[in-house]
Amino acid sequence: MASHPSFNDNTSNNESFADVLERGLASPRRRRLIQGGLGLSALASAPVCAPAVAAAASVQAGSPTLGFAPTAMSMADSVSVPEGYTVAVLHATGDPLTKADRPYSNAGLDDPESFGRRVGDHHDGMHLFYLSDQGRFSAKAARRAVLVVNHESSADAQFFHPKGQTSGGMSGKKFSQFGGKEGWDGGARPGSEVVKEILHHGVSIAEVRFDAAGVPVGYLQGSALNRRITPETPVVVRGPAAHRADIHRLFSTRHDPTGNTARGTINNCGYGYTPWGTYLACEENWAQYFNIPAGGRSADAKLTESRRRYGVARSPMPEVLPAGYTTQSQGWFMVADAPDRGQRFARWNISAHGNSAAEDFRQEPHTFGYNLEIDPADPRSVPAKRVAMGRFAHEAAVVGIPAAGQPLSFYMGCDGRSEYIYKFVTAAPWDPADVGRGMAAGNKYLDEGRLYVAKFNDDGSGEWLELSIDNPRIREFSKNGFAFENQAEVYVHTRLAADAVGATKMDRPEWGAVNPANGEVYFALTNNNQANRSPQQVNAANPRSYVDDGKPDSGNPNGHIIRFREDSVRASAFRWDIFLFGAEEGSPAGSNLSGLTAANAFSSPDGLWFSPTTGICWIQTDDGAYKDETNCMLLAAIPGQVGDGGPIEVKNTNAAGDAVLSTQSSFLGATLGEARLRRFLVAPRGAEVTGLAETADGRAVLVNIQHPGENSRPLQGARDFSPEGLESTWPANGGGLARSYGAGVRPRSATLVISRKDGKRIGEA
Ligand code: FEO
Ligand code: CA
Ligand code: CA
Repeated sequence: MASHPSFNDNTSNNESFADVLERGLASPRRRRLIQGGLGLSALASAPVCAPAVAAAASVQAGSPTLGFAPTAMSMADSVSVPEGYTVAVLHATGDPLTKADRPYSNAGLDDPESFGRRVGDHHDGMHLFYLSDQGRFSAKAARRAVLVVNHESSADAQFFHPKGQTSGGMSGKKFSQFGGKEGWDGGARPGSEVVKEILHHGVSIAEVRFDAAGVPVGYLQGSALNRRITPETPVVVRGPAAHRADIHRLFSTRHDPTGNTARGTINNCGYGYTPWGTYLACEENWAQYFNIPAGGRSADAKLTESRRRYGVARSPMPEVLPAGYTTQSQGWFMVADAPDRGQRFARWNISAHGNSAAEDFRQEPHTFGYNLEIDPADPRSVPAKRVAMGRFAHEAAVVGIPAAGQPLSFYMGCDGRSEYIYKFVTAAPWDPADVGRGMAAGNKYLDEGRLYVAKFNDDGSGEWLELSIDNPRIREFSKNGFAFENQAEVYVHTRLAADAVGATKMDRPEWGAVNPANGEVYFALTNNNQANRSPQQVNAANPRSYVDDGKPDSGNPNGHIIRFREDSVRASAFRWDIFLFGAEEGSPAGSNLSGLTAANAFSSPDGLWFSPTTGICWIQTDDGAYKDETNCMLLAAIPGQVGDGGPIEVKNTNAAGDAVLSTQSSFLGATLGEARLRRFLVAPRGAEVTGLAETADGRAVLVNIQHPGENSRPLQGARDFSPEGLESTWPANGGGLARSYGAGVRPRSATLVISRKDGKRIGEA
């Protein structure tokens, strides 16, 4: 979780009883919900009305049956899976995509520019695309395929360099783009380090090698289909024809004063794929990479208010940084020893030093925060920023079940504390003849459409509120010098438009997923802290908040998964309930509302995905609240449907359990029990589990292991990266793998291939 910021930039009054205070810099730590036996036994007496629906009552005819024994919690530096399964690495951080580059040294010795030709770090969302013999996307299995992977964050960039990151007075400490104690101290950065840190970001595309049974066994080094999209790759800026000129004005920078093009993508976390066969790389925590150096000019009040709402330049640099003071960003613009070729470094400095936006990079942050569409079948295609889908901290963009002649809908989360869930509905009706038409189809479907934000009502209903300049609440919105002038500004300052219409603040929306059996939409709400979800700030869709002896990190530390059903893609209303509450199995019923046991207890759901072959709902965690008992994990669930449970009353208490601080009614789905919810995989130390893809026959599943060993630095003296100083040495240590992977001992993010010794489909009986 240290790779993830936990800021709240939403100080709107939406759905709270009180104004939310501005947060400090330090990234809050998620904590265990209940600490110590006293609180545990006391809270156990807090009454709660559990759903009265029997678990078995709602199992649908034809539902799959889970066919593996639950994997035990583990804190080993190893991947754990059930008996009968095999785990191998497909690729890992730094693997070369070309034949010209050497194998990754894993010792900080690689050519910096080669990072633009290697697999990036922090593997995240991904998808497997089969290609026809004509080289087009194929919706069916085919002989060839490419794996597209997001590379989210450089929070562990110390592993790229021989002795970690170096900068004035901070040698050996880990810099973080997220500010706080681990932030950058303002000293000059060496170009050799910064180039690696920039170029490893983005997306990798690698042709997959299959064995005779169609199980991926690696990637094809040197394939003409291999490609990297980095923060420096040229992209086009697209949006509705009627608003394109206004959009391009907002993208104008010294790099391209016309704003027709922009550079690259960054902090790609969740993802999406389209029915026509392209990939959507979602830009999540892009706001954290920019800053204004000491003495630099800020922007006008309007831009300043938008930056505040997005967390851009959250901690501007003072003239002189006091001893021990650190600030946001990685200091990429403070490179003294390398030419700023193509303003590759200057673009991260957003001070308004020119005469207009076209002469500096004050608008560079406007060029991030979108879904970037990529055609993985065509290495020469130019990716497109799909501005009409809005600008926020994009998590996944998941498409509803396509129906010919009907519009398509994409569901999207904005991952920040108390942020929102959005939906984009295409203007064009779906035409299956567009399968394989690449970026041309993207222009048709993703440039024109309507953007909505979700309001979850306490009676179990919900509404989609359109984000349109024609809405008086948006047209008349005014805050700290910010007002909307046109629809392009609604797309680019989406969070403020969503504030204006009264969207519901959620507990950090992560991935969405659509159940192929019934079209219901699921969203992981990973967690929230007490400062942003106090017992007085709960609502039916986010009903939990515990106060743990006044510690600021209580609240909803274990998260939940919400789901909703629409009557049609055009519907503006929906019905929702809560699918699952994360909890530790020993927690009392008042917090363990879904009746979790040692076989399926989890905390902080993040990745979500329904297998199209088995219908299993896979749940991944990125957790800090449960890590004293287990590493992060992957679980398999067999859901029913919205409404299969019933109403509940959540009593929010203090940790001692002697005071009920609030009571909130909500709606909870049927209890799954161990028959329908089981832990499948546990990750190595320090890693989150993220990214899911599957072969067309369901006989192999790909899973990403991100940032193993991310807590190495606090172990002290780890600058020499000896095994003793590292939290993890995976995957080189071979933990849980069919064979060890790669050189050295430093931990690396990687894509796993999970297959079954009996050749059956993953997870099924
Ligand atoms: Fe990058 Fe919201 O997880
Ligand atoms: Ca995520
Ligand atoms: Ca995450």
